Amino acid sequence: MKSKKPVKGPLKTPDMAVNIAGVRFKNPVLTASGTFGYGLEFAHLMDLNSIGGIVVKGLSMKPIMGNPPPRIYETASGMLNAIGWQNIGATEFAAKKLPALRNYDTNIIVNIVGFELSDYVEVARFLNDCPGISALELNISCPNVKKGGFHFNKDPRDAFKVTAAAKKASSRLPLWVKLSPNVTDVREFAQACQEAGADAISAVNTLVGMAIDVEKRRPALRFITGGLSGPAIKPVALRMVYEICRAVQIPVIGVGGIARLDDALEFLIAGASAVQVGTANFYKPDASERIALQLQEYCRSRRIESIREIIGSLRTYE
Ligand SMILES: Cc1cc2nc3c(=O)[nH]c(=O)nc-3n(C[C@H](O)[C@H](O)[C@H](O)COP(=O)(O)O)c2cc1C
Repeated sequence: MKSKKPVKGPLKTPDMAVNIAGVRFKNPVLTASGTFGYGLEFAHLMDLNSIGGIVVKGLSMKPIMGNPPPRIYETASGMLNAIGWQNIGATEFAAKKLPALRNYDTNIIVNIVGFELSDYVEVARFLNDCPGISALELNISCPNVKKGGFHFNKDPRDAFKVTAAAKKASSRLPLWVKLSPNVTDVREFAQACQEAGADAISAVNTLVGMAIDVEKRRPALRFITGGLSGPAIKPVALRMVYEICRAVQIPVIGVGGIARLDDALEFLIAGASAVQVGTANFYKPDASERIALQLQEYCRSRRIESIREIIGSLRTYE
């Protein structure tokens, strides 16, 4: 029997870059909105230059206080949150955070929230003129507000309308739309957003959940329900990313329970062009940097020349 020829020569540094809607990312590891502040808070905990991008906390035009506490609760393999869009507002972000963020060699993606369609449009139009932003991410999937947000992710026609309006308002920047897992068929929403002009889909946001403090016999969160995130949701997020990748032609960014190298690999193999690390940042603040480095070493040690060889490489059974 012929033995396989061993591959010779030194191991080469792989090309980790990906392109999403015309924007180059030095590697496919990003941080997820709401779990990494405005990025700058993590500058002393990890090297912000080591990752492909930072998706900042969802911004409205004016500052929002968010929901009253308790609004975070730990569950088995996950976390429930009902923060409710607390943010400093787009104007303050542009004046105080963006100039400092521009000093880092990474892409800044701004997540946008809105109660009404016109809110999304206003923020998108404002940010379109701010230098230093690589893309916008429309959050139509937040379950922790009484009005807006997730309401645009209940009917694909509403998802279409808000995407089309935001795209028109921010023609200079690629528009990503972030979808909810709390739907029957996520593909319908992804297709509606693609038709409306979305340049990429981020999937997914948190799953609606609930916990009860049995001593007090009260909901663990004042908002009663919250968004479940963390390792507990990974199989659901992965399944949805897999489905979306087969339903649309635009790039898909995977998010949901990614905490380790293998998690990121699963999403990339399923077809995601990039991944976002979320809840893991709370207990491992440099999780994204570690995953980016490990991903590079994974490719190098296996003589994979480009990370793009991994994307969508899922094999089927005979
Ligand atoms: C505390 C917290 C705040 C969040 N805020 C936002 C937000 O402002 N905009 C958004 O699109 N997603 C937000 N998310 C959702 C995350 O970006 C991510 O989609 C979700 O947590 C699933 O990923 P993970 O399991 O890796 O955390 C938030 C999640 C958490 C835990």
